[in-house]
Amino acid sequence: MRSSRARFVSLLLFAFLLARVADAEPLAGGGRHLTKDERWMNQRLDHFSPTVSLLRRRLLSSRIESLDHRQFKLRYFEFLDHHRAPDGPVFLRICGEYSCDGIPNDYLAVLAKKFGAALVSPEHRYYGKSSPFKRLTTENLRFLSSKQALFDLAVFRQYYQESLNARYNRSGFDNPWFVFGVSYPGALSAWFRLKFPHLTCGSLASSGVVRAVYNYTDFDKQVGVSAGPECKAALQEVTKLVDEQLRSDSGSVKALFQAEKLRDDDFLYLLADAAAEAVCTR
Ligand SMILES: *[C@@H]1O[C@H](CO)[C@@H](O)[C@H](O)[C@H]1NC(C)=O
Ligand SMILES: *[C@@H]1O[C@H](CO)[C@@H](O)[C@H](O)[C@H]1NC(C)=O
Repeated sequence: MRSSRARFVSLLLFAFLLARVADAEPLAGGGRHLTKDERWMNQRLDHFSPTVSLLRRRLLSSRIESLDHRQFKLRYFEFLDHHRAPDGPVFLRICGEYSCDGIPNDYLAVLAKKFGAALVSPEHRYYGKSSPFKRLTTENLRFLSSKQALFDLAVFRQYYQESLNARYNRSGFDNPWFVFGVSYPGALSAWFRLKFPHLTCGSLASSGVVRAVYNYTDFDKQVGVSAGPECKAALQEVTKLVDEQLRSDSGSVKALFQAEKLRDDDFLYLLADAAAEAVCTR
């Protein structure tokens, strides 16, 4: 029981690692996209600030009022070649914690062709070209959350449906929607269906990371297992040296990586992630 559970967990982890590789590939790929034509929509910065009522409007300063309605430009992509217009399904490919530069020509394209579906893909807020702020200060980052991202998806879904309706000169029509996601977007995909069952007919959550684990050391343990004993020992040795050097003279070790501007914890994350990615892309 215990070992089959452990196997299951490591399988999940492996799938997670694979998913991360799959996420990363389109970035390096180049000409493997169905489209890279950028489209833009206005997205609300904060989905949870209440709409200011007339009564409160008198109490609040005009500055706070204007904060409530801030918007930012969100990038998205559409591919309609396979769409069985006007009532064929729409497949929403959810993007995650990376720059989303187009719609890759992968299994979803095969499914879209088979089912006569339109493909659309909005970028995740704060990534790629969809950042509401130029500077990612702590203050500016407070609107970055999976909850805000879920509402971005819901607003996008409505916005795009209306644009389809306008294209086909109709109103109030709903195409059948399906959402797809891998890894973190897999979690978003599952949560989207849970939170907005009226906005999608179904959801595919591939390697969906729906369970948040604080201090997730199992991830690193799996990297160690996948790396093999020799490589694991080397990684541990390097980590130990960097830890020591950071304590005695943090500037000099960061300078070796031209990473002087990173905080120590971000720097350690960078190193650890580089190792993890290297191991799982072998
Ligand atoms: C759109 O629909 C309306 C109402 O049926 C019709 O009057 C109009 O001509 C249509 N426009 C186009 C561009 O098809
Ligand atoms: C995380 O877990 C490891 C292993 O159990 C432990 O050594 C470490 O102190 C923990 N760190 C934090 C920040 O909780």
